[in-house]
Amino acid sequence: MATAFPKQLYKQGDPAMPPEFRELLVKLLLDAHLENNGNPEYRKILANIADAGLRHAPHGRAMEIEAEIVRQEVNHGKIVAELIEGLGANPNQHRPIKQYAFHIPLEDWIDLAWFHALIDRVGLYVGIEMTGAPYEPLAKAAPDLEGDEEFHTRAGFLHLKEICATPEGKRAAQERLKKWWPAALDMFGRSDSKTSPLYVKWGIKMHENEALRQKYIAEAIPEIRKLGLEIPDNLANRRFL
Ligand SMILES: [Fe+2]
Repeated sequence: MATAFPKQLYKQGDPAMPPEFRELLVKLLLDAHLENNGNPEYRKILANIADAGLRHAPHGRAMEIEAEIVRQEVNHGKIVAELIEGLGANPNQHRPIKQYAFHIPLEDWIDLAWFHALIDRVGLYVGIEMTGAPYEPLAKAAPDLEGDEEFHTRAGFLHLKEICATPEGKRAAQERLKKWWPAALDMFGRSDSKTSPLYVKWGIKMHENEALRQKYIAEAIPEIRKLGLEIPDNLANRRFL
């Protein structure tokens, strides 16, 4: 559905910014987007990722990659906190992280590899949606955020390529995919969401939840197949359709 409102680029503090537009942006950045150093729940997730990366990395190169990913995610948390402040909201709040994918324990290197490959990848898709947002500070920040998320998902598939080089590694990766694939697909939210059409109406996002989820599925499947793995049923173990 095309945006119902003429494409206007709002600057920070723009008096012409419609209240509904500002509320939707704040809701997106404070709750849906999760990266925010002002939120202790985000810091907990970063600490889990850092712990798993530095504890389980199989070699020095992998450790360096993980350290760089954590550095970038900290930077994302800073950028988004500044965006929230620029919209006149308070980023220093304790906000629950609703996407259950972030609460799945990272038990070992295989879990972390899938987390980067599939969950950071959702961050990439959601982020690309915002690159066209008619809010100048966000439209400016989004391309760098997305460049980093692209690196995170590529790192995940690189780790998985090494993991799948042995028969037992491949078996374990296939087994873990059963939990990470539905978790990734559920991150796009409900197809009957009331908010999703509003984001598209205001040009904050380009696709509604289901359309973006289908785009993700179509483009992730070839990457998973390159590892020689089977794709689980898209509807299996799902919590949000
Ligand atoms: Fe990431």
